[in-house]
Amino acid sequence: NNRELILAFETSCDETSVAVIEDGHKILSNIIATQIKSHQRFGGVVPEVASRHHVEQIIQCTQMALDEAEVTYEDLTAVAVTYGPGLVGSLLIGITAAKTIAFAHKLPLIPVNHLAGHIYAAQLVTPLSYPFMALVVSGGHTELVYVSAPNDYQLLGETRDDAAGEAYDKIGRVLGINYPAGKAVDQLAHQGNDTFKFPRAMIKEDNFDFSFSGLKSAFINTVHHADQLGETLDRADLAASFQASVCDVLVEKTLHALAEHPVKQLVVAGGVAANQGLRERLTATMATADPQTELIVPPLRLCGDNAAMIGAAASVQLATHQAFAGMDLNAVPSLDL
Ligand code: KG4
Ligand code: ZN
Repeated sequence: NNRELILAFETSCDETSVAVIEDGHKILSNIIATQIKSHQRFGGVVPEVASRHHVEQIIQCTQMALDEAEVTYEDLTAVAVTYGPGLVGSLLIGITAAKTIAFAHKLPLIPVNHLAGHIYAAQLVTPLSYPFMALVVSGGHTELVYVSAPNDYQLLGETRDDAAGEAYDKIGRVLGINYPAGKAVDQLAHQGNDTFKFPRAMIKEDNFDFSFSGLKSAFINTVHHADQLGETLDRADLAASFQASVCDVLVEKTLHALAEHPVKQLVVAGGVAANQGLRERLTATMATADPQTELIVPPLRLCGDNAAMIGAAASVQLATHQAFAGMDLNAVPSLDL
């Protein structure tokens, strides 16, 4: 049996996910148990609640992942797990499960950075060619990453304050939308127009950094000011204006990065890569402004947190002979790429 079979775990935030990946790109199973409903009444993820759910879910998810993939522990090549960044208590549940299985079945343990996972979700879609650029946009991160070789990352720029997804969630709250608000704001935006012309922070600056807190404040102030005057603003126009500002900045900065660092492919990764407005804008812009660079936008289910992407990144680490983790592997909540 020459198949490379990786059992991968992802428990960095509020999804318990276990997957089996064959040869680094084929998804045999990708079980995702989301806890969103348990956190919604609190308006965000409650770390202690998240950890408890992971404990409850992880064994069942593991069994389902193996069953669906029709593989047994004996078939496995390695076990992979996200060890950061994320919530420490949540990460530790996945790490403990992965260590236990690696120890019991004498399998190598591959420690994976969650952001590398988001980037290598693209490998589940199409073969990657180097160098490529990754725009990582999630609830916790907004980064432009130059990937010169497998598992070799150069951070070109990042947000100086809020992440894009975080900004979506915060302005969503002002619109009365439950956490996580990104998808609902995105849908609302499609029914409105960019009438408010919110700021596009740092768009003309000669760097690859982002800032979304000014946009968030402008949005909140606009709504509060109208409230005080007893006016009601059009929610769809507010959402559309916010989204236009976020997309303008993300697209402009990405084009700037591609102009200075030519690559073969552009990978869009992370929860906010599910944004329809961003996907449409990037597809249209890349086709005219940079047709030589192939745009890779993973399907929606691979944009959010999932273990399949962790298995894909682990396969790259295996191929490039990165060190395995020992039984002393610990969670690193603020791990960088
Ligand atoms: O990557 P992810 O699942 O978790 C992190 O690693 O952070 O990203 C979650 C973030 C949340 O902030 C959520 O609101 C945002 O992704 N998101 C979206 C959309 N779908 C999810 N933001 C904008 N538009 C969407 N369609
Ligand atoms: Zn994520």
